[in-house]
Amino acid sequence: MTILVSGGAGYIGSHVVKLLNELNQDVVVLDNLYNGFRASIGSNNFVEGDVSDEALVEDVCGTFKVTKAIHFAALKSVGESMEQPHRYYEWNVNGTVKFTRALIKSGVSKLVFSSSASVYGTPETMPMTEKTPRNPESVYAATKAVMEEFLYFCRPLGLESVCLRYFNAAGASMDCTIGEDWSATHNLIPRLMRAMITKNETLKLFGTDYPTPDGTCVRDYIHVEDLACAHVKALDYLDSGLGSLVVNVGTGNGHSVREVVEMAEKISGQTVPMIETGRRPGDPPAIFADPTFAKEKLNWQSQLNLQDIVRSSYEWYVANPFGYSPQ
Ligand SMILES: NC(=O)c1ccc[n+]([C@@H]2O[C@H](COP(=O)([O-])OP(=O)(O)OC[C@H]3O[C@@H](n4cnc5c(N)ncnc54)[C@H](O)[C@@H]3O)[C@@H](O)[C@H]2O)c1
Repeated sequence: MTILVSGGAGYIGSHVVKLLNELNQDVVVLDNLYNGFRASIGSNNFVEGDVSDEALVEDVCGTFKVTKAIHFAALKSVGESMEQPHRYYEWNVNGTVKFTRALIKSGVSKLVFSSSASVYGTPETMPMTEKTPRNPESVYAATKAVMEEFLYFCRPLGLESVCLRYFNAAGASMDCTIGEDWSATHNLIPRLMRAMITKNETLKLFGTDYPTPDGTCVRDYIHVEDLACAHVKALDYLDSGLGSLVVNVGTGNGHSVREVVEMAEKISGQTVPMIETGRRPGDPPAIFADPTFAKEKLNWQSQLNLQDIVRSSYEWYVANPFGYSPQ
């Protein structure tokens, strides 16, 4: 009765592994450590390897008696995906095809999949519900959309899945033991914290003329511990035999870049060195979720707010300025 967590040594995966440990669930992590850290998962069962290695996945499933899986392993940079579409399709889509074939062969029938709100592109109306048409605008988002469709067609083969469309994962564990290594991400909060704490760089603020209250982009930041909880609820949903599901995982609240910066300055008492630059191509003005369906289907809703996100991040970065790497 073990849960196989692909990409479990990454940012979100390690927080899910931590929660599964707290719930006394048996876990095995499969990660190629391309962007993950062995230290983030402590003494959990760990196999270093790639999800596209079908023989390895079958071997792990047999050895650890795997009955369910959570699939985080993927490349996740939108910008890089536009430059390297073949690599992203090969890695994300083919990797998932091979991973799921091995799961099905091994009799694993339940899968939680990391999808992304980016599958919606730039919608005409806000907030985004699961009925908002999908319109991926990057190769990365397109790979997520393809994988959602592919998983739909795996149902007749006995693999049911919950695809969680994450909004902007952020924050660190509230006990300050794990967080997002800033060397492994391009997200706003790690970049902001690195600029503020090290004073070695300047945060670039991309666009101040958006049609939002303060002119900067608005996003739905969801605390990584809330996100972790959604995975447990998704596993419960699969256990209840209700079939497959695609669901938004966001708070329903949007916060602008300036609001995040102000929160960081308030919590730290420091100033974020910042430079205003032009808009980045493809950045929609505002994105936030309608989380109603998650509440209805998974009995899940976020508990933590922007202050929790920024405070937990700040505390983790102050305590771990070198992330998981020894100095
Ligand atoms: N971080 C976000 O805000 C966000 C938002 C939407 C969706 N997602 C998705 O959630 C998932 C996890 O995101 P994250 O931020 O934790 O990313 P991450 O890069 O920190 O974690 C991914 C982990 O998977 C591992 N990995 C990658 N490819 C692998 C492969 N082929 N075989 C084995 N291991 C592999 C990496 O080494 C890493 O440990 C990804 O699929 C990402 O696309 C993330």
